[in-house]
Amino acid sequence: MILEILLKGLRRLEYRGYDSAGVGIDGGNGKEWESNAKSIQLIKQRGKVKALDEEIHKQQDIDLDVDFDVHLGIAHTRWATHGVPSPVNSHPQRSDKNNEFIVIHNGIVTNYKDLRKFLESKGYDYESETDTESIAKLVKYMYDNRESDDISFATLVERVTQQLEGAFALVFKSVHYPGEAVGTRRGSPLLIGVRSDHKLSSDHIPVLYRSYKKSCSALPRTDQDTCLFPVDEKAVEYYFASDASAVIEHTNQVIFLEDDDVAAVTEGRLSIHRIKRTAGDYPARAIQTLQMELQQIMKGNYSSFMQKEIFEQPESVVNTMRGRVNFDNNTVTLGGLKDHIKEIQRCRRLILIACGTSYHAGVATRQVLEELTELPVMVELASDFLDRNTPVFRDDVCFFISQSGETADSLMALRYCKERGALTVGITNTVGSSISRETDCGVHINAGPEVGVASTKAYTSQFVALIMFALLMCDDRISMQPRRREIIQGLRVLPDLIKEVLSLDDEIQKLATELYQQKSVLIMGRGYHYATCLEGALKIKEITYMHSEGILAGELKHGPLALVDKLMPVIMIIMRDHTYIKCQNALQQVVARQGRPIVICDKDDYETIRNSSRTIKVPHCVDCLQGILSVIPLQLLSFHLAVLRGYDVRFITSFYFRNQHYTALSSSPAFPLLSICIY
Ligand code: UD1
Ligand code: F6R
Repeated sequence: MILEILLKGLRRLEYRGYDSAGVGIDGGNGKEWESNAKSIQLIKQRGKVKALDEEIHKQQDIDLDVDFDVHLGIAHTRWATHGVPSPVNSHPQRSDKNNEFIVIHNGIVTNYKDLRKFLESKGYDYESETDTESIAKLVKYMYDNRESDDISFATLVERVTQQLEGAFALVFKSVHYPGEAVGTRRGSPLLIGVRSDHKLSSDHIPVLYRSYKKSCSALPRTDQDTCLFPVDEKAVEYYFASDASAVIEHTNQVIFLEDDDVAAVTEGRLSIHRIKRTAGDYPARAIQTLQMELQQIMKGNYSSFMQKEIFEQPESVVNTMRGRVNFDNNTVTLGGLKDHIKEIQRCRRLILIACGTSYHAGVATRQVLEELTELPVMVELASDFLDRNTPVFRDDVCFFISQSGETADSLMALRYCKERGALTVGITNTVGSSISRETDCGVHINAGPEVGVASTKAYTSQFVALIMFALLMCDDRISMQPRRREIIQGLRVLPDLIKEVLSLDDEIQKLATELYQQKSVLIMGRGYHYATCLEGALKIKEITYMHSEGILAGELKHGPLALVDKLMPVIMIIMRDHTYIKCQNALQQVVARQGRPIVICDKDDYETIRNSSRTIKVPHCVDCLQGILSVIPLQLLSFHLAVLRGYDVRFITSFYFRNQHYTALSSSPAFPLLSICIY
């Protein structure tokens, strides 16, 4: 029964994509629940939930027909960030071979290496490459070093979370606390669904604050003022999930946890507590009734993956930088490059090789790479690079930028460069992908799974990853320090600025209604924004089936200007950097041919605003990061154009899949987790 619910819940989360799945349930035969719950059975599998289901049916020691009186199970689908997709790296992760504590985790623990070092020194043996395993070991460490036997499970979890850095939503289960589940979050979503056919004790749960005087272990008090339960102690089910779609078919009664809430289910009662009270804390969590239908929840507020991923960018760029950029002392650490950076600094040139959008990420960052590394930088389309049999030498460093890590041309170019003895570096989003495995070293961009056919958040995360690399290359150059600081502080504010650009969505949708019946759109810019023009035009072609061309503004007078007249839609990107005057000239040339360009410009650039009939105003950022802000209006525009032209962007997603991506993407996405306790 519980397996059925868990697997169904995981299937509801499949739309996010993943590469492996696992469950942890009470062992035993269902008669004596306390003794059953004293053993935990873990079943994990690489691949789809279907593969996990088949694995469960192969297990000799699970009787699928037994009904338990009390049963708790936790389940998870994983998108690899730490270690390749495999059963041992899948969740639940465990504290030890006896499965004393198990945990499922969404997010990234950034100090896991320090925790691992500490716990290994205390004799805890690791089996996986994950950051999550440290959480499972740490809770056992807290248990093994408890000051008294009556310490609660919630207290142990609280102590664990105090040691964790990064982002997480966690659910724990333990043989030492039969029938109990504890969930907590910081930076990743977690909700609790409550289902009972009987009246509940309340429609909200007061938050309990621990006073750290003496009685650390006294929580939770399980009386009516402190927790939730069905009156007369009738049957109840609790569902911990990262996403409402996993629980909505069982209940529409949910409680959304806040950061640092610790929620515990003990003897069928739910309590929520926090370590200390801070100003502005709301002292209770209400049970909310979800009005949404399943379909609606799965899509969220978004009508397609592409739209969802565009709006994820404030978070995805943070995930790319998490644990790597220290904004306080202006340092950058890329664990994947640290052993190779000296060799890279000594190289003769950098060659960035990729296809499509990933190639544009190379074009977008080329200038800042040249500036900060003082090396020659070539940016190559993988297919053309191979066609030309491009000379490559041992003292070259070749970068392969790829969201999927599986693109055939990029992979062939990688093998070509390896044969010639160059050092190969991957900038990939997919851990365990061919490019990630076959490169000598690299950086995982950690943007989370990209399911939409049109690459959006991977582009901005590749952009950020390449900037981080450039910063690392010059970290010991005194003359570069002011520039480095300026860029790092630019990265700090980037997520907020992206949010600001996303708030232009309505305005861009309106613009799309004016443009969608046109045959063609030209996009012009130069310098840092040439890549934006190419990328914007690619997005428009790819999903709206409209002609679109990205034109380097410096080339206008060499031919393309002939296309401009009063009917041709033109978008120009003009920012206040070293190309500003030249861009103003281009604007004059377009206007002289009766063009009426729509200008994407700095919101404080009053001159351009005054001289243009139509502007899209974006916030100002350090010049080399501005391309991240200028591309987002074009991502949004292409999305709205596609919708208005009658192309179902979702349909495009599932139907018009990039061939070479299929394997990687179909087995992609986020870190949904799910845990269910039935009393
Ligand atoms: C690690 C974590 C990352 C976390 C960070 C926090 C892993 C896989 N990653 O990242 O999730 O945010 O700590 O400190 O544990 N590699 C290639 N080719 C590629 C990409 C990567 O060879 O295309 C190699 C790297 O050289 C490295 C390993 O894969 O050896 C992991 O790379 P990456 O995830 O970027 O390393 P960290 O930044 O240390
Ligand atoms: C465009 C797009 C493609 C990919 C290209 C490379 O929206 O998604 O142009 O960027 O096929 O794919 P990866 O980055 O997976 O190597």
